[in-house]
Amino acid sequence: MNSELQLIDSITPDNKKEVVGRMFTSAARRYDLLNTVLSMGLHHYWKRYAVNLLPVKEGESAIDLCAGTADISVLLAGKVRSSGRVVALDLNEEMLLLGDKKVRDMKLDSIISCTLANAEEIPYPDNSFDYATVAFGIRNVTDIPKCLREMHRVIKPGGHVLCLEFSKPTTAVMRALYDIYSFYLMPSIGTWLSGDTTNVYRYLPESIRRFPAQEEFKAMMEEAGLKDAHYTNLTGGIVAVHQGEK
Ligand SMILES: C[S@@+](CC[C@H](N)C(=O)[O-])C[C@H]1O[C@@H](n2cnc3c(N)ncnc32)[C@H](O)[C@@H]1O
Repeated sequence: MNSELQLIDSITPDNKKEVVGRMFTSAARRYDLLNTVLSMGLHHYWKRYAVNLLPVKEGESAIDLCAGTADISVLLAGKVRSSGRVVALDLNEEMLLLGDKKVRDMKLDSIISCTLANAEEIPYPDNSFDYATVAFGIRNVTDIPKCLREMHRVIKPGGHVLCLEFSKPTTAVMRALYDIYSFYLMPSIGTWLSGDTTNVYRYLPESIRRFPAQEEFKAMMEEAGLKDAHYTNLTGGIVAVHQGEK
């Protein structure tokens, strides 16, 4: 086993929720800044690209899981407009408070409501939404198949699930460059800029390496009952957008 993958070995299904929660509480205050610096601004492009893949119409509804500071929720609100609704759900209060502030500052609180809850137990009835999305979040949940089944459950028949997540770069050169960046540069820059003491910026590359690659994740979506599962690689497969329907 790669010796770099040590921190994550100390995270077990029993403590993952708590350990990941501590990391996001520590990172919350500077999360948006760090995201922009560490992705060199690319996360804005990835998020806009992903949301534009969905055929969202005015008046529709969406739930954005692991919403954090609500970037995806804001993009969805721009599409469902004032007659639609978006739920931004996150388990971490500090992250969600920042999301809620962003929503209010942008005067989108009549469209977006923030819900503090676990993405593995979504507190909404079956067939509630036209879309369920998750961006850079499903990697952090303890039971990924359960979260996917929940996404499938809460969307209406004909509804869409979209997962935007780090994935496996498609070429050896890209993989090598990305390894150097994410294992060496990212933890130093992230820890320096955030003043973090929880190793969140070491956890990040490790958790990305452990996350299922494109085809494996597509199979997981199919197992959760989603039809027409498919994906689009972005930036050489550093990130992939998976979609499926009910
Ligand atoms: C990397 S952030 C992504 C935030 C946002 N979606 C974005 O793209 O910027 C991951 C978020 O997932 C949340 N999270 C982790 N596990 C969760 C769970 N089981 N249920 C709900 N949210 C969770 C964290 O609190 C954190 O806000």
